[in-house]
Amino acid sequence: MEKRITATVGTSIFCLGVSEPMSSVYPPSEDSYMLQRHVERLVSGKVLDMGTGSGIQAVTAVLKHEVEHVLAVDINPEAIEAARRRASDAGVLHKMAFKKSDLFEEIDGRFNWIVFNPPYLPYEEGLPDPTWIGGEKGCETIERFLGGARDHLTAGGFILLVYSSETGINGGGCGYNWEVLEEKTLFFERLYCARLSPS
Ligand SMILES: C[S@@+](CC[C@H](N)C(=O)[O-])C[C@H]1O[C@@H](n2cnc3c(N)ncnc32)[C@H](O)[C@@H]1O
Repeated sequence: MEKRITATVGTSIFCLGVSEPMSSVYPPSEDSYMLQRHVERLVSGKVLDMGTGSGIQAVTAVLKHEVEHVLAVDINPEAIEAARRRASDAGVLHKMAFKKSDLFEEIDGRFNWIVFNPPYLPYEEGLPDPTWIGGEKGCETIERFLGGARDHLTAGGFILLVYSSETGINGGGCGYNWEVLEEKTLFFERLYCARLSPS
């Protein structure tokens, strides 16, 4: 059983894995588990896990027999190694690939599902962490991601995306149809998981 403590960071509550306090890899938290519930239920075919972190979404996806292959991507090389370890422990390396990339910069091909639990909080002094901070307003990484994702979806493909009431997006637009699948209040913010398809 993973040992956790709960900490308040800015307006968000995070569960920190106390076994690796110095790790730069995002430990599975409330937002991860929200996305994981929908990954488990929905994804199939070829899957891209953007911002894989610990690999929680990638390994959840690849364990489904409807999923052919998962590409796990992160800008942080430590995250890529953590995801690879998780996949190795689960015995699923043969159905996976790993890539260090700033969003889609190094990515080729198209996917039936792209899942992303992005950095979605606005910049606050003393909080420069790229695992949480999505830009000055909070939505910059998401907007850049959505700009690139369209060219990497198959016809009929979907995105699963997490964001927050602090993100500075209203859950619509950017050339996509948005369907909120789940929302949850966490102290000072509301967390959302949405399914998007190109409009
Ligand atoms: C909130 S964590 C989510 C980690 C994991 N997917 C989960 O659900 O627990 C965001 C992840 O996105 C990665 N990330 C941030 N900016 C990125 C970028 N420009 N390109 C790729 N990955 C990025 C971070 O390194 C981090 O691992």
